Amino acid sequence: MNIHSYEKLWLAAAMLLIVGFIATITYGSVGLGITMVGDQEPTVEPDALNEDERFGEPRVEQVGENEYEAYVIAQMFTFQPETIEVPEDSEVTFYVTSRDVIHSFSVAGTNINTMAIPGEVAEMTVEFDDPQEYGVVCNEYCGPDHHNMEGQLHVVPEDDFDLTELSVDAPNEVDAGEDATIDVALENRMHDTLETTVTLEAGDETFTEDVTVDGEDTTETTFTLEESLLEADDTDWTVTVDDYEESGTVTVVDDSADDDDAADDEDAADSADADDEDADGGDDDE
Ligand code: CUA
Repeated sequence: MNIHSYEKLWLAAAMLLIVGFIATITYGSVGLGITMVGDQEPTVEPDALNEDERFGEPRVEQVGENEYEAYVIAQMFTFQPETIEVPEDSEVTFYVTSRDVIHSFSVAGTNINTMAIPGEVAEMTVEFDDPQEYGVVCNEYCGPDHHNMEGQLHVVPEDDFDLTELSVDAPNEVDAGEDATIDVALENRMHDTLETTVTLEAGDETFTEDVTVDGEDTTETTFTLEESLLEADDTDWTVTVDDYEESGTVTVVDDSADDDDAADDEDAADSADADDEDADGGDDDE
């Protein structure tokens, strides 16, 4: 059989192209590490992420000396946490999933880029050197606000980084003549010990307490606001620990006024219909 020389040339060119395509795909997946979201991570229930052990609270966790894990949820049209903060010179493994449709988690200006697929968990390990602020975008079309879906990734100096959580438990009301107790819980999710000061400002007074919180531990501090400080007014309070702050107001409730209220409530129950009409009238006036 005689094959025309042009035919041979085109055959050879086609073969070469096929080899070239296979080579680029191989380089892409092996050389650059571009892969599909792997199935080695256990799947999650997108509708029940709030109860999920790992994604119930999207956050950054310390897992080693300079090693961290970040749990990220992509959803219409935001990322949780919206700002991810990690320290410089760290190795961070991101676990990313979606609560609704397919999104992506792409850190602008880097090669950090993964699809976020409902039910699947994407895993990526990244090393960060110097402090820098990056934007996070979604590059899979996910709905009308896709172009506004953005987050932040902040690589901060080591001294500015902590995983501290402040929670304050204080009453909104106390009975006249009683003290108010304000419970402050300080959680340290870092491995190193945290030494700091809890400051409570209430009315014109300032209370401070030095605390030491072991790594992965929580310390509780209780302040008592004496009845004389509260008097009969609303007392604003603020608890400050490093950059964290929580505030509220304690109101003193007069017992005798309380009794009057109770009596009013009974009256109100008796004439609920009449009250409704009153309420409607009030609305009309506005
Ligand atoms: Cu999320 Cu596009």
